[in-house]
Amino acid sequence: MPKLRLAASAALIMSLTFQPVLLAQNPDWFPKKDMLTIGVYYYPEAWPESQWARDMANIRKLGMEFVHMGEFAWYFMEPEEGHYNFDWLEKNVDLAAKNGLKVVLCTPSATPPIWLEREHPEILMVDARGRTMQHGSREQADWSSPVYREYVAKIDTELAKHFGNDPRVWGWQIDNELSHYGRQYSYSKASTEKFRDWLREKYGSIDKLNEAWGGTFWSEMYQNFDQVEMPNPQTLVADPSPHALLDLNRWFADEAANYLKFQAGILRQYTKNQWITTNFMTLHKDVDASRLQKTLDVFTWTHYPVHGELGEGALGFRLGSAEQMGFMHDWMRSFNGLSGPMELQPGQVNWGDVNPWPLPGAIHMWIMRAFGAGARLVCTYRYRQPLYNSELYHKGLAETDGVTPSPGGREYAQAMQDVIKLRQYFDSNAQEPQAYAKRRTAFLINYDNWWDISNHPQTSRWNTVGHWMSYYRALKSLEAPIDVITPNRDFSKYPFVVGPAYQLVDEELIRRFHEYARNGGHLILTARTGQKDPHGHLWEALWAAPIYPLIGAKIPRYDVLPVGVDGHVSSAGKSYAWGAWGDVLEPDVGTQVLATYADQFYAGKAAAVTRKYGKGTVTYVGVDTLDGELERALLHRLYQDAGAAPANLDPNFLVDWRDGFWVATNFASKSEAIPAPPNARILIGQREVPPGGVAVWQEP
Ligand code: GAL
Repeated sequence: MPKLRLAASAALIMSLTFQPVLLAQNPDWFPKKDMLTIGVYYYPEAWPESQWARDMANIRKLGMEFVHMGEFAWYFMEPEEGHYNFDWLEKNVDLAAKNGLKVVLCTPSATPPIWLEREHPEILMVDARGRTMQHGSREQADWSSPVYREYVAKIDTELAKHFGNDPRVWGWQIDNELSHYGRQYSYSKASTEKFRDWLREKYGSIDKLNEAWGGTFWSEMYQNFDQVEMPNPQTLVADPSPHALLDLNRWFADEAANYLKFQAGILRQYTKNQWITTNFMTLHKDVDASRLQKTLDVFTWTHYPVHGELGEGALGFRLGSAEQMGFMHDWMRSFNGLSGPMELQPGQVNWGDVNPWPLPGAIHMWIMRAFGAGARLVCTYRYRQPLYNSELYHKGLAETDGVTPSPGGREYAQAMQDVIKLRQYFDSNAQEPQAYAKRRTAFLINYDNWWDISNHPQTSRWNTVGHWMSYYRALKSLEAPIDVITPNRDFSKYPFVVGPAYQLVDEELIRRFHEYARNGGHLILTARTGQKDPHGHLWEALWAAPIYPLIGAKIPRYDVLPVGVDGHVSSAGKSYAWGAWGDVLEPDVGTQVLATYADQFYAGKAAAVTRKYGKGTVTYVGVDTLDGELERALLHRLYQDAGAAPANLDPNFLVDWRDGFWVATNFASKSEAIPAPPNARILIGQREVPPGGVAVWQEP
């Protein structure tokens, strides 16, 4: 054992210092002409060896093109410390290859084995109440623990040495939905130490930290970094400093990214021509994919659209949310164009409050939505429905007998056939239609804003993701292609930039906004923008003053209304209700008012303004309406005025263009007609698309 330890430490040190080299995208991983490929999770360790060959052959019979294995199998890979067993996996990789299936393998770090926890209980995370998490579930390990990382380094090294040069293995997933689920964060000694190190590095001196965290308030001063604890609502009598909380969010996201980079570094040492991903969770606030932009080759996530939420319209609870699905595609694709959901729902799930069936057709629609959004892969969770343990109500592609395709299984098979059909019409020279490209929009997000608003929302009616989604829906109803990007990216290639609730700004960003608009861009900013500096402090100036010259208006006050009281704004003769946030605006001369408050003591004051600026325009929508219809009407008008010929689709009826194909997916509860010219060639579906339906066509 001591010998093993030494070897592991050496590997660990190497991997910690190893700078992952950005691999050039390998065109063979995802041949452009294949467009989308579909696969499924399989857990060989859960089924008798006698069924492996049959299952693998049936996966192929369903049309699947790859299989995903091994993410939770640490115990089976290393049943005892230092004794590795990959035979079972080797046999399954072999069976997969014999059936023409590519293989995605995983690092098993989400599920440490019992022997490791018993030998090193210090690797277990500690929740906010100080309770050490136990064996018997997953994500219980503390990835700040150096001991845990040492063991992860060992298993990853062995796995990568074994399979890293194996052409049957296509790519790797690191961990699974990295997080501690509802137990965020780990308040262990190891995490605390790493948090302190991060603060030392960031601030250099404790005086700077005191300043940033507002230490003169309530005598919250520290004398040295060792006195600083992770802010923990369970052990703080009254409200914590929002600046400390913001740093905790940033540290956690950095630490999660650091852990993923650490594992990617190990894989890179031993793998050849295999891609690396991790599966993020849909709209998850704690782990930020943009921090991994230069680390991962492929960006994937997990998405279960139907789990009991009502959604919109009579069928919303069976169709899922068009905007959430679209947003994830447009966010993950924006990094390098190689993206797709790694887990897409195959049928009923087990973990929602209630777990209804998706509408027949909806699963197929989600896959085709992925196709339309430019995804390169879709993988579904899982092939066989488990017969025991916590996910036994979770459907798979096969029924509980292990062989009969489930309704979801049949929809996956149908989608694969559709993609194969569409591949025949693939034209590598297809150009994005000009009218569509004219509406291309950068949707600007920054996790700092999300965190800062959540840490101190000022009104319980505010919902950051809800606010984003109002704008996202509005944009999709205009038939605008969207890239969700972070501010480190170039805005200049986008005719439109929408920065919703961009609360934290710095001089540089404001300078770039000015430059963007002056050069002809159309900038749209919304409620709460510009209130604070990057520490989350208010400006020693009038409220949100740094953005006044940009938006051509002042913001003398904002208002928020209690639940049960709705305010109203009017715009172009229509009235819209609001309640969560209303910036009351005072336009400069030359700034045009787009919407006006219709009641409250500031009736008649502006709620939304726009101005020409250089060759472009700047618009500020200060009110967050209940149904987002004002936002939709205003965006429509702005795109119209900018000559971008916006459509006027139902926001639940999405129309995308991809590689020469128009793709319509209907998340609405009524049928919708596709906006295709009479001479369009309909390849999939009909002109009239029912709820949960799809149409794909080409235009001459
Ligand atoms: C995901 C998770 C999977 C599985 C699935 C069930 O969130 O990553 O491992 O638990 O949920 O729906």
